Amino acid sequence: MGTKRLGWDPAKYVEFGDFRNRPFFDLTARITASAPRRVVDLGCGPGNLTATLARRWPGARVQGLDSSPDMVAAARGAGAEGARGTPDDAGTRLPGNLAFELADIRGWVPGQDTDVVVSNAALQWVPGHQELMSGWLRGLPEGAWLAVQVPGNFGSPSHTLMRQVAQSPRWRKQLDGALRHQDAVWEPGQYHELLLRGGARADVWETTYSQLLPGSRPVLEWVRGTGLRPVLQALGGRDGREFEAEYSALLDEAYPAGDFGTLYPFRRIFMVGQKQ
Ligand SMILES: C[S@@+](CC[C@H](N)C(=O)[O-])C[C@H]1O[C@@H](n2cnc3c(N)ncnc32)[C@H](O)[C@@H]1O
Repeated sequence: MGTKRLGWDPAKYVEFGDFRNRPFFDLTARITASAPRRVVDLGCGPGNLTATLARRWPGARVQGLDSSPDMVAAARGAGAEGARGTPDDAGTRLPGNLAFELADIRGWVPGQDTDVVVSNAALQWVPGHQELMSGWLRGLPEGAWLAVQVPGNFGSPSHTLMRQVAQSPRWRKQLDGALRHQDAVWEPGQYHELLLRGGARADVWETTYSQLLPGSRPVLEWVRGTGLRPVLQALGGRDGREFEAEYSALLDEAYPAGDFGTLYPFRRIFMVGQKQ
């Protein structure tokens, strides 16, 4: 998938930073490597979270890889601004052991010194990532870690309603195939088996975060930064706004604003394997 075409917007993405960052820490807390040689973050986005890996393992060469030029530029520039929205905000410079690369996950292969591979909230954009994961496990050295988190919320109203509007006669033609990536994610048990078949010890779980979002129409704002981008990209300005108005009215019903904000439950699937 051409992620450049989908136009990731780093500033939009870091909105709701705490909710987006927390799964990364919940995931990487389960990696107990003490002195990895090389650590790779696949689909690193704006790089603020990759920087926390470089600080956690100062002796490792840490590499963030992303196919969006805007994301990689933001990641490389983060040294000037500081890593926004992370528990590591104290760091105002990129750690010296950290580098970012513009590359597609689909072409990446592990090196013999790759001891940790992390991919947080990225592989759902890569149909067929399961095959890639099996290949990475084959190529990784013994003892290496593979830690992946993907959203498991494609059955939630924010996504079913998006598909419902996209498949309506008004939009069907223009949006044919735009949301295809949403079929890409498996259930936890299937990933569990994949890791075991790849010769890894496996730790797989799911968490539904009960996210209380502030502001007006926050679910629309949330998906604008991620799942809705392919739709907006395919439709462009005026049609995009028309689609959003239709979709947003349905979201208002599905996620009514309450006294304390808007609850947006979000399911995520986590898997951590250590190659035996
Ligand atoms: C939702 S963001 C996650 C960013 C970061 N991992 C985080 O947790 O904040 C998904 C990222 O995956 C990247 N991405 C999607 N498909 C990719 C591919 N095929 N190759 C490399 N990066 C990809 C996007 O450019 C985007 O930056």
